[in-house]
Amino acid sequence: MLGGESGDGVRKAMELVVALGKVYGAKDLVKITSAHLSGASYKTIGDGGLKYLGDLAAGGSKVIVPSTLNPVGMDRERWKEMHITPDFADKQLKIIELYGRMGVRTTCSCTPYLGGNVPKFGDHVAWAESSALSFVNSFIGARTNREGGPGALAAAITGRTANYGLHLDENRKPTVVIDAETDGSVFSHSMLGQAVGMAIGGGVPYFRGINPGADDAKTMSAAMAASGSVALYHVEGVTPEAGGFDVKGLEVIHIGKKELESAYEKLNTVEDVQLIALGCPHLSVKEMKDIAAFLKGKKKRNKDVEIWFCTSSEVRDKCRDEVKILEEFGPVLADTCMVVAPIEGVFQRTGTNSAKAGNYLPTLCSQKAICRDVSKLMEMVI
Ligand code: F3S
Repeated sequence: MLGGESGDGVRKAMELVVALGKVYGAKDLVKITSAHLSGASYKTIGDGGLKYLGDLAAGGSKVIVPSTLNPVGMDRERWKEMHITPDFADKQLKIIELYGRMGVRTTCSCTPYLGGNVPKFGDHVAWAESSALSFVNSFIGARTNREGGPGALAAAITGRTANYGLHLDENRKPTVVIDAETDGSVFSHSMLGQAVGMAIGGGVPYFRGINPGADDAKTMSAAMAASGSVALYHVEGVTPEAGGFDVKGLEVIHIGKKELESAYEKLNTVEDVQLIALGCPHLSVKEMKDIAAFLKGKKKRNKDVEIWFCTSSEVRDKCRDEVKILEEFGPVLADTCMVVAPIEGVFQRTGTNSAKAGNYLPTLCSQKAICRDVSKLMEMVI
């Protein structure tokens, strides 16, 4: 591949894989079974990224492992409801088309593991998207580093990634024990993730005292990756690798009510909002059902606040009855989200139930933010 026999696009991709391996001291490469790519929104990659993808596609580059794509900057049919300009829409559709030409599945979600891209235990994969890669590392026991968009794409094109970091047994060991307390709700797991990221920054936390389900782990993974840089964690009695470690002698940190309250304080900086956006990471079928059950029979009284429900097109298709209920309150948008959409310029104050969005709305979208559970957010409009 490096010699160019497989084409120029493959040579460039392999050069990047090898360069990353050298930077991180990898001794060899490892074959991957899937990739998940970020760098899909025109808002985040701009004209430079569009040109880069155009060059790769024109050079005949194709992915050789199943590859999925992160959310883009708009719902491809309902972008006008998101206040998107025609120019942005044209460029966004071009980006999707280029990824598609390279063989990437363009369903565009940050929860590909709830759809058609589900790694198996022990699989080596190359995933970008910090929440998704932490989920598959931790909850499934697949192995990926925290890839960037270009690195994940290069790995998808070559079918290989540099064998370092979380691909290796020694780096998957816990570094700190977290004695955790939640009230069992999904939202409290989001606050737990926020508090842990704030407390430890990075490393591999080993949790005791919690029993997260898939939606709890989804939001916790996202939160710890945003408030810190955690890409792998273990939960005693829950995650597949947790039983294999002896954690005696590790530092123990208690995260309880007080710490969850501090996390909450940090993410709530304003009192009213213009937009409420749910679905970071993208809403699962269960979350769609739970929100629809909560909203059924209620009325939206505050017409000044817009509500977006963000999910994948796969989940939206599976939840037709729930979509009808939610659409009384606001659009159910597929394959996009409040952070990668260009909401700055339209809104200044946004509410979310996700610690990850609570971190990124101020920094990436110039928003003042509120982070509360779904029922408290909805109290502002019903
Ligand atoms: Fe997904 Fe957007 Fe949140 S990509 S994890 S919904 S910031």
